[in-house]
Amino acid sequence: MEVTKQYLRSPEFLADPYPLYEKIRNSNEVYHANELDAYWLMRHSDCDLLLKSPDFGKEIDDNFTSTSDSKKTSNVMEDPYRSMLFLDPPRHTRLRLLVTKAFTPKAVESMRPFVEEISTNMAKKGRNNFFFDVIEEFAAPIPAYTIAKMLGVPQSDMSKFKAWSDDAVLSLDVATGKEEQAKADQAQSNLLDYFQKLIDERRKNLTDDLLSDLIRSEESGDKLSHTELLVMCNLLLIAGHETTTNLIGNGFLALVRNREQFEMLREDRSLMKSAVDEFLRYDPPVQRVSRALYRDANFSGKLLQKGSVVTAVIGSANRDPEVFERPNELNIARKENKHLSFSAGIHYCLGAQLAKLEAEVAFNVLCDKFENPRLYEEPQWRKNSNMHGMQTLKIAL
Ligand code: HEM
Repeated sequence: MEVTKQYLRSPEFLADPYPLYEKIRNSNEVYHANELDAYWLMRHSDCDLLLKSPDFGKEIDDNFTSTSDSKKTSNVMEDPYRSMLFLDPPRHTRLRLLVTKAFTPKAVESMRPFVEEISTNMAKKGRNNFFFDVIEEFAAPIPAYTIAKMLGVPQSDMSKFKAWSDDAVLSLDVATGKEEQAKADQAQSNLLDYFQKLIDERRKNLTDDLLSDLIRSEESGDKLSHTELLVMCNLLLIAGHETTTNLIGNGFLALVRNREQFEMLREDRSLMKSAVDEFLRYDPPVQRVSRALYRDANFSGKLLQKGSVVTAVIGSANRDPEVFERPNELNIARKENKHLSFSAGIHYCLGAQLAKLEAEVAFNVLCDKFENPRLYEEPQWRKNSNMHGMQTLKIAL
């Protein structure tokens, strides 16, 4: 069996990557994807070890980023625009500490009424009488508006901001064409200009939003520099945008295809927290994350050499039968769900609580809106094998 880039982009794999993962997991626990020049770890215990050990990291060379499958992107190590997502300690530790002081559980929880308001409004709107596109009309706007509001983007700039963030994430898709790439670059540059102005304004007039807290954030006299603030705002926007959209989309598709689970959740909303964790496990928005080995290391009895790129296949680890009972079944009441969808170790998703809050609110609203959700047409999957999610998910009205 050979995992080629072409296969990773095939409609079959994009719609359902799990049969391939299962095949590899059953036959060969550590797999070398030749074309990607990376080892794939399929078991939960191996992935967990890779993500938690300080012997593996992100600063191998100028061309490595951990969300790509191989050494192919062009982020220069010394680049001041390299975000903490792509840094090791001590640089990562410093940035993470400063942002954690501002991005607190209290700041996240304070967003709940806003998320409830926009989700309810969007579910009411509807653009036609035939179908409701859960992605475009609902799941995509929620994360963009939420982070914008949290950072302190004024209401009057929201739609402009949302349009730029939609375009900026186009570049995350491997199948992006030249025209779309140009659009994404332009949107990214508009966003950076916008953040630049917003930071300058906030410095003069600090308020109670996240950006003001990021500016205030201090540890032993150390603060975020202007460029670091800029990069952090951008990371918070990009990292939480498509991922959260895909959590809502993939989770709702799973409910549509598992009617008895949908009815259970509709009847008993106290299952919401475990349901959201189960959606994350069952069909994770981020399928793979990679690390470079800083020493030789053993995974499932196979010795891999220092310098290798090794990928934790989250989509496979989340269905490892050694950890999860009946892993291919959706069970919204699953207990002790140890999925790796937010990664593990020092890079554990900073926005996990925010993403869960948004998803809980969104699923509550969707459960109220639909009594008997049916697909209007087959969903269209995005042409990105790692950021796993749909372009459209049309539910019949
Ligand atoms: C369902 C939604 C989300 C998923 C599945 C997700 C997934 C992930 C994963 C897998 C990583 C770690 C990558 C690695 O280990 O190399 C990560 C890191 C990160 N995420 Fe999320 N994320 C989500 C939502 C969000 C949101 C809403 C935000 C913020 C608004 C956010 C901000 C971040 C940041 C800042 C990091 C970097 C943390 C670090 O390097 O220390 N994410 N996320």
